[in-house]
Amino acid sequence: MKGLKIDLTNCEGFFNENEFKDELNKAEKMSKLLNSGNGRGNDFLGWLNLPMNIDHNELARIKLAAAKISEQAEYLINIGIGGSYLGARAVDEALYLADNGTKLLYAGNGLSGTEMKRLLALIENKEVALNVVSKSGTTTEPAIAFRILKEKMDKKYGKEAYKRIFAVTDKSRGAVKSIYDREGYESFIIPDDIGGRYSVLTPVGLLPLAAAGADIDSLIKGALESYHDCKLSNNSCLKYAAARNLLYKKGYSTEIMAVYESSLRFFSEWWKQLYGESEGKENKGIFPASVVFSADLHSMGQYIQQGLRNIFETVISIEQAPMDISIPNTGSDEDGLGYLAGENMNYVNNIAMQATVNAHVSGGVPNIILSIPKQDAYNIGKMVYFFEYACAVSGYMLGVNPFDQPGVEAYKKEMFRMLGKPGY
Ligand code: PA5
Repeated sequence: MKGLKIDLTNCEGFFNENEFKDELNKAEKMSKLLNSGNGRGNDFLGWLNLPMNIDHNELARIKLAAAKISEQAEYLINIGIGGSYLGARAVDEALYLADNGTKLLYAGNGLSGTEMKRLLALIENKEVALNVVSKSGTTTEPAIAFRILKEKMDKKYGKEAYKRIFAVTDKSRGAVKSIYDREGYESFIIPDDIGGRYSVLTPVGLLPLAAAGADIDSLIKGALESYHDCKLSNNSCLKYAAARNLLYKKGYSTEIMAVYESSLRFFSEWWKQLYGESEGKENKGIFPASVVFSADLHSMGQYIQQGLRNIFETVISIEQAPMDISIPNTGSDEDGLGYLAGENMNYVNNIAMQATVNAHVSGGVPNIILSIPKQDAYNIGKMVYFFEYACAVSGYMLGVNPFDQPGVEAYKKEMFRMLGKPGY
């Protein structure tokens, strides 16, 4: 696969070549099933050909709305939870969008009154816009945030507030769509056949990202490149799906995504939702976890090195980090760092990665290494589609429907009953 490479060398002691070949054959079959549209959950396959089927009129409208937002607002508050916000935040942070232009703030992804009060304090006297993202419109967290923030916007901007409020919702079923239509908010549609966690390349991800200055054309181009690569046989995506399923069968039931740039923390959060919600059902599924190294080597490193041996790691390696700085040559070795004087920090980070992989593998933790040349919109787009496709194939290999999430309703029902919501 061009640009995105998979290295399975550090899994070699944990499964043999023939076992891997068999698993890769299964992945190929499941990939065919996915593309035939005859697999489970086939009413949610809108994401599959999305990089090919981008609606260019809609894209132009997204860019226009994004330009309106960035002209008017220092902050765009993006209201949404789960699949309705994690993709945007993953790309926002990976591309360091907060460094320039309109900054994204996030609301409606929890129920903390403290966080809401702090957000309101932060935007006081600031120019803001609001983007409310909810496919169903009934999700409690974003609905509460919208009610509070709409009131704030109406007070602050009066009759002009509607020009600063944008909505991304289902075309007809979104429960609060009537409010958006009545108030005249510019709204965008989440296609019926695309679930939240597969929606980064719809207005769910593209509108806030474009408003914050992301190069969404490159993001889509990267995803399109992965789309084509995923059609090839023996591609990296199928190898990833095969390796992780084989490890799971051998008892490695926890997969930890390890990143060495903290700006990828939310990429891991997005990945965790994608895999956790897609695979964790029918009493099966790999548990997805994440760490940011080297920070977490000082907290989780002990467990990974010597704890329960049911862990494998998927390491994201960025060949050329966005920025770098050299360690000064002070002409003294008082701090014992003379041996590193003049070296770049990323050189040290890279050695830390290689050393950690070696240590963890010898401690009994298989490592899959995925590398991309750069942390830019194009390569992040590549990874988004790569992980979506691998997730769908993995779900089919596991024998589950990777596109539903029936278990998410359980806490909601109980919470509504306890809150006294009518009908519960
Ligand atoms: O992936 C999913 O389907 C979920 O995470 C949803 O995106 C999340 O529950 C938010 O739902 P909604 O967009 O309907 O508010």
